[in-house]
Amino acid sequence: MFSHVRRSFSARETFELIEQDLREVEREISVESIASVEAITTINQYLQAGGGKRLRPVLLLLCNRLFGPATDCARRLAAVVEMIHTATLVHDDVIDVAKTRRGRPSTNVVWGNHISVLAGDWLYMQAFQVALRERNFHILDLLISLTQMMVEGELLQFERLHRIEITEADYMELIDRKTASLFSACARLGAVAANADETAESRLGEFAWNLGMAFQLVDDILDYTSSEKILGKPSGNDLREGKITLPMIYALESASEEERAAVETVVTDASYEHVPLMRVLQILEQHDAISRAYERAHTFTRKARDILRSFAESPAQRALQTILDLVTEREA
Ligand code: IPE
Ligand code: IPE
Ligand code: MG
Ligand code: MG
Repeated sequence: MFSHVRRSFSARETFELIEQDLREVEREISVESIASVEAITTINQYLQAGGGKRLRPVLLLLCNRLFGPATDCARRLAAVVEMIHTATLVHDDVIDVAKTRRGRPSTNVVWGNHISVLAGDWLYMQAFQVALRERNFHILDLLISLTQMMVEGELLQFERLHRIEITEADYMELIDRKTASLFSACARLGAVAANADETAESRLGEFAWNLGMAFQLVDDILDYTSSEKILGKPSGNDLREGKITLPMIYALESASEEERAAVETVVTDASYEHVPLMRVLQILEQHDAISRAYERAHTFTRKARDILRSFAESPAQRALQTILDLVTEREA
């Protein structure tokens, strides 16, 4: 993610602050990837090699650093959250019948649904094994509640698929569950690993929740505005999958009958064969939907920035501000 940013100096500073820790996190993930069944190890290694922004470990580590030097517990939990994130992606790609993940064939394409579901289960449980070693009920409580939130979110999203009458409130609930809740848990875990008090933990959780909401909103905007080469998955993918995200919700609020029918066609066809992506982009443009969605994303970033300002200035605090900027300015 850092390579896309103009403000490269602060991005580099941010990265250097936790470079060592991130290397340790990768080592931890690779050690914990070994199963007694070879197919599972192979899939885990494929997943780890696939890259990804490692945003959740970064968030956890930087939140941990707000309170002092990085702790071993934080490094282990950073591996845990990345493993949980990866497991949700494996299951998500099965549910969404996705073809591509991180610019490569998704696990379901390479190994099929059956094996992917099992590998995802294994990885989920391995993450919990690592977390369990901390012998801390609060950590388990956070992780279990989070996982249930995310699973419920995936189920709700599945039920709402192909429905173009979805509201902004429905949408906010989904992105809260599928993305912001994990961001929030990462920040809280960073605080817990530093033995921070409850007030600091929940304030950080709120900061990261707002960051997560902005992140997912921008992700959904980029699905329309970015290119496949940059995204690592085809653009216009959400609508083709039957997902009505905020830009489209805004456009549909004032769309004509003809425009609404065009959107319905893409969703029904699950392709841009009859209505090209270009037409959909025109509809969004017509209703100023992309800039309205960006404006909404900024309300979350502003809230996150305000909360972050209440923490004392430090390299970690500045780095978290940089992350906030990167999330809203990113192109992929
Ligand atoms: C993908 O998350 C799933 C969403 C919540 C949009 P990321 O965009 O953080 O995925 P990676 O880990 O960098 O591939
Ligand atoms: C991402 O959801 C999966 C979770 C965060 C559980 P999406 O289906 O919306 O995201 P992509 O487009 O596959 O990354
Ligand atoms: Mg998906
Ligand atoms: Mg999905």
